[in-house]
Amino acid sequence: MKIDTLQLVNFRNYSQVQLDFSDSINIFLGENAQGKTNLLESIYVLALTKSHRTNQEKELVNFESKEALLAAKISRRTGNFSIEVKFTTKGRQTKVNHIQQKKLSEYIGAMNVILFAPEDLEIVKGSPSVRRKFLDMELSQMNPIYLYDLMEYQKLLKQRNLYFKQMFEKKKALDELYLDILEEQLAEFGTKVIIARKKFIEQLSVWAKNVHSTISGNREELKLSYLQTVKATDDVLVENYIKQLKETRSKDARRFTTSIGPHREDLLFYVNDLYVSRFGSQGQQRTSALSVKLAEIDLMKEFTGEYPILLLDDVMSELDNERQVFLLQAILGKTQTFVTTTTLDHLKDLNVPGKIFYVENGKIINEKTI
Ligand SMILES: Nc1ncnc2c1ncn2[C@@H]1O[C@H](COP(=O)(O)OP(=O)(O)OP(=O)(O)O)[C@@H](O)[C@H]1O
Ligand SMILES: [Mg+2]
Repeated sequence: MKIDTLQLVNFRNYSQVQLDFSDSINIFLGENAQGKTNLLESIYVLALTKSHRTNQEKELVNFESKEALLAAKISRRTGNFSIEVKFTTKGRQTKVNHIQQKKLSEYIGAMNVILFAPEDLEIVKGSPSVRRKFLDMELSQMNPIYLYDLMEYQKLLKQRNLYFKQMFEKKKALDELYLDILEEQLAEFGTKVIIARKKFIEQLSVWAKNVHSTISGNREELKLSYLQTVKATDDVLVENYIKQLKETRSKDARRFTTSIGPHREDLLFYVNDLYVSRFGSQGQQRTSALSVKLAEIDLMKEFTGEYPILLLDDVMSELDNERQVFLLQAILGKTQTFVTTTTLDHLKDLNVPGKIFYVENGKIINEKTI
């Protein structure tokens, strides 16, 4: 899979730009704060309709404008197509081949990307919500049904919590029958989300373990597991889930929350059986994060039949020499890659064809084929 052309209109600090890419490596080179990450972000947003840096859509639109447009021409093995995301004051619109997509789950997955960024360390070190977001983003790209189930789940979850709040404010008693039905649906979609996450983690951990072992010179063994709040085995998950929701109902009603379910669950990292998020060294944490990301490349290939597009934001400067070499060996030549950097130092020995884009103050002032 690759991007042939990318167009940005009033996105971040770009007013108007159109780029033709190399099939292999594309380097965005420039000083700090010129717009290198903004370019990578635009590709990420085209794939996922959301930014990895902000939840505020408004921030993506140029300060001087009201609307922003991103468009790209994509080649896949199955054919060529165009995609488009537009941010307006009325919200977000997505198009595939100029046809508006009503459902997010029909749009996401058209283009698959994996982003490597300094913030990846947060997948290991950060709060559980970072890891849930990681799982949700990656699974949604590979599996539109997952995104659909997740969105249904989130809608029902909101409904339950809001209902508790409203009944409290109106000083009304809970309608237990209404909640029985709501919780049954909640458990049904929650179960689908949990099972899909577990299956994904199981597959991811096989690849990640291998990568981690290689990077660490066979000294470390990485294990991933899913921390479930709904206590039951998969075959009886729904029934037990419903039961446990009922048991927590009165407590939840007082707090306007839902104390069990995928929105409270977590992905756990262990290195040599040590809980690495808490007790690992910085190096072990970095290797774990990198291993999981690298593992995704092959996992996505397995799921979708094609390698995803890779976005590398400033990662070279973050990694020591050994990990840099490993990263580049693992990816180069496989798939189209976009790299941001302030210097060509780390990249000068690369022997791959590609293109360098010189970025300055929201403009591409020069480009060079290498
Ligand atoms: N909505 C916006 N409208 C206009 N300019 C914006 C907007 N959002 C961000 N910017 C500008 O974009 C610039 C930052 O761009 P970006 O994050 O891509 O920098 P960078 O080249 O990756 O820098 P670094 O090397 O420090 O990571 C800043 O100058 C910021 O003011
Ligand atoms: Mg940057």
